[in-house]
Amino acid sequence: MKKRSSIVALFACVLGVVALVLAGCGGGGSTESSSTSSTNESAATSTKGSYTLVKDGTLTCVSELGFAPFEYLEAGSTEPIGYDIDVANEIAKRLGLSCSFLPSQDFDSLVPTIKEGGKADIAIAGITISDDRAKEIDFSDPYFESNLALIVKSDSKETAETLNAKDKKVACQTGTTGDAWIEENLPDAEKVPLTDISAGLAGVSTGSYDAYVVDLPVAKKNLSDSFTDLTILEEIATGEQYGIAVSKNNPELTKAINGALAEMQSDGTLQKIWDKWMVEADVPEE
Ligand code: ARG
Repeated sequence: MKKRSSIVALFACVLGVVALVLAGCGGGGSTESSSTSSTNESAATSTKGSYTLVKDGTLTCVSELGFAPFEYLEAGSTEPIGYDIDVANEIAKRLGLSCSFLPSQDFDSLVPTIKEGGKADIAIAGITISDDRAKEIDFSDPYFESNLALIVKSDSKETAETLNAKDKKVACQTGTTGDAWIEENLPDAEKVPLTDISAGLAGVSTGSYDAYVVDLPVAKKNLSDSFTDLTILEEIATGEQYGIAVSKNNPELTKAINGALAEMQSDGTLQKIWDKWMVEADVPEE
């Protein structure tokens, strides 16, 4: 509950920003159908719809598809599903585009892929907005608020303090905020960065690693679906916000996505997608 109201508050903020932007450039003109109401000399510099796409008519998306409930593949399927997949499809629909996902890529390759360009229009992968990443790519407005979770075996006696020791192995997904958290907060432990989250969690199950750090909704989903022998030792209140990554060369696409997200917030679509995918679980606070 608490989480949901903070997301609503977050979006109230986002909407406020969007409203300000619209008020700032309104100038009395219609916000749609600039083709009939505007006499801009060049279509390429018009303010609406002048984004580029890797493939005409399609929003081409890239992700790391091992991050349930945001993006994942069910056994035997190549069709990604999850919260982010629904968000991407809905954005595409509102922009009059179809939506397609490329095969899964390692998480730490997503921002570089968008920066390089030519392969995908957006990366949507529960990517936490950060200053470092924002140097490489543009982020959409935030569309989800999250924290981290510290996961251990249910019968483990560890605490966040005892884990900060030379003989302790704490695993994470390479290049994530969990990776950075271990580095900063458990400097004495051995950090084990891995590409695949379920392999890391399996390693905690079998005793190869003492703990795992990952986004809280992903911890809840994995622990309730598959890793029932693991538990969340602590919720880590990082207050992260997820954004969609877009090339800095494509600012009009970011604007169009922000427009769609604001609509999806105000008409309840984001809440519906939340209700469909999020798993409730009791979690001890930090
Ligand atoms: N939110 C975290 C981050 O941005 C983890 C995201 C991992 N996403 C994924 N699809 N594997 O670093």
